[in-house]
Amino acid sequence: MGLHIQHLLGLEGVSKEDITLILDTADSFYSVLERDIPVVPTLRGKTIVNLFYENSTRTRISFELAEKRLSASPLNFSASTSSVNKGESLRDTIQNIEAMKIDMVVVRHQSAGVPYFLTNCTDAVIVNAGDGLHEHPTQALLDMMTIRRHFGKLDGLKVAIIGDIFHSRVARSNAWGMTTMGMNVVLCGPPTLLPQHRDSLGVKITDNLNEALDGADVVMLLRIQLERQSSGTFPSIREYRDRYGIDIEKMRRLKPNVLIMHPGPINRGVEVSSDVADSPNSVVLEQVTNGVAVRMASLFLLGGGENV
Ligand code: CP
Repeated sequence: MGLHIQHLLGLEGVSKEDITLILDTADSFYSVLERDIPVVPTLRGKTIVNLFYENSTRTRISFELAEKRLSASPLNFSASTSSVNKGESLRDTIQNIEAMKIDMVVVRHQSAGVPYFLTNCTDAVIVNAGDGLHEHPTQALLDMMTIRRHFGKLDGLKVAIIGDIFHSRVARSNAWGMTTMGMNVVLCGPPTLLPQHRDSLGVKITDNLNEALDGADVVMLLRIQLERQSSGTFPSIREYRDRYGIDIEKMRRLKPNVLIMHPGPINRGVEVSSDVADSPNSVVLEQVTNGVAVRMASLFLLGGGENV
């Protein structure tokens, strides 16, 4: 049985069965990636456009690598070097690219809802690689894969997500996905960086760091997204670091086997100190490795695959 979704626009509303299928498939692809020749022919003949209107290091490279590992043909579009700069609209851009016969579009855009909009402009399968403040579903999937590989389960684990929650599509996708998988999610940050509609995500929300960290199995730290803020939302970076940054002193109060996670890019010395980011509890680079497997699984299953 394959996925029940046609596109991957977000994790809101995606079933436990579908998330489990993606994570199980990602585990199989993880084994493929450890082979001497880490390539399978499953998407041979498929053309996938990576449509990036916003900067990216991890997501863009890992999607392209996942496509190559699946034997698909990736095409990379960067808004900054395209005819977007001559005034071409998003609809015209996608319809011109589709005219060249493509099968899938991986899109990152600064505006929430663009992946959904594209489903009305093209017959291609759409995968959201991050849309504004809305969702970043493959990031949340790779986060859950990383946690599951360490604990052997997700159900019943407590995760504290700390930082600029309001501007974070990673927090939003993880809140949807992790609660669906039975995790106990606590979102924590300064009051001005917490969601305004607090009941909508079905998670606990607090500005009290001790409450968030108490009993946590996983601590996920988020960057302050200054580029998405129009005015100061907290007094200073130094005050933020002192109140919400995780340093070695605060880490000593956590469970010995706690996982320290971060989606990147890290602002060392702000949300996390270097000694914590580089500690044995940190799985930041494992997250990046797992991202390739999760993106292979997502593309493979959305392309109609069922068994690896
Ligand atoms: N985690 C993440 O989305 O990183 P990039 O912005 O570098 O893709």
